[in-house]
Amino acid sequence: MDASKLLVGSKIVPVVVLANADVAVPLAEALLEAGLGVIEVTLRTDDALEGIEQIAKSVPDMVVGAGSVRRPEQFADIAAAGARFAVSPGSSSRLLAAAADHEMPFIPGAATPSEMIALFEQGYQLQKFFPAELAGGRPFLKAVGAPLPEIRFMPTGGVTPMNAMDYLNMSNVACVGGSWITPLELQAKGDFDAIRQIGSDAVSLLV
Ligand code: 3PG
Repeated sequence: MDASKLLVGSKIVPVVVLANADVAVPLAEALLEAGLGVIEVTLRTDDALEGIEQIAKSVPDMVVGAGSVRRPEQFADIAAAGARFAVSPGSSSRLLAAAADHEMPFIPGAATPSEMIALFEQGYQLQKFFPAELAGGRPFLKAVGAPLPEIRFMPTGGVTPMNAMDYLNMSNVACVGGSWITPLELQAKGDFDAIRQIGSDAVSLLV
């Protein structure tokens, strides 16, 4: 259920606020071509679930997950849509139980040492650190890394091309998430070349 294995090698995870299900497939193809093989489609637009379903069906090489998961019943919906993993800004016992019921790899969110330890006790070695910049950013992650060395994080929230590598160079950061790669304006224009370019620029940060 811990999503660590699924995300191995995927250092940058685009967090997609999907404006329209019609753009899901070309958007996923553009990101895949850019070298980004894992995306999180957030459950905060009406079309998100349908977009996940279309990507799962039509772009099978893309590992698509659902983000902003906040209600236990959403696990059944995203599992049916073909999501391969789930991400939440936080966690609750009911969310953890629902993830387990659906055998869905899950990245729950944490922003305090107590939340991190509680999730680690449940077997979650990979956790979303959200909202990363507002919750203390890299100095905070460095500080918790000393007493909590086993936990790996996906910082999300305020991650940009300017600070992504600073996060990724930290020993307790497995990957970062960010919405900068798929701006709504470019989705609305259907400018997938531009999205591919932003994705390629993100990948080139890694070399
Ligand atoms: C998320 O849902 O993870 C965040 O809203 C993404 O944060 P960002 O827009 O600052 O990248």
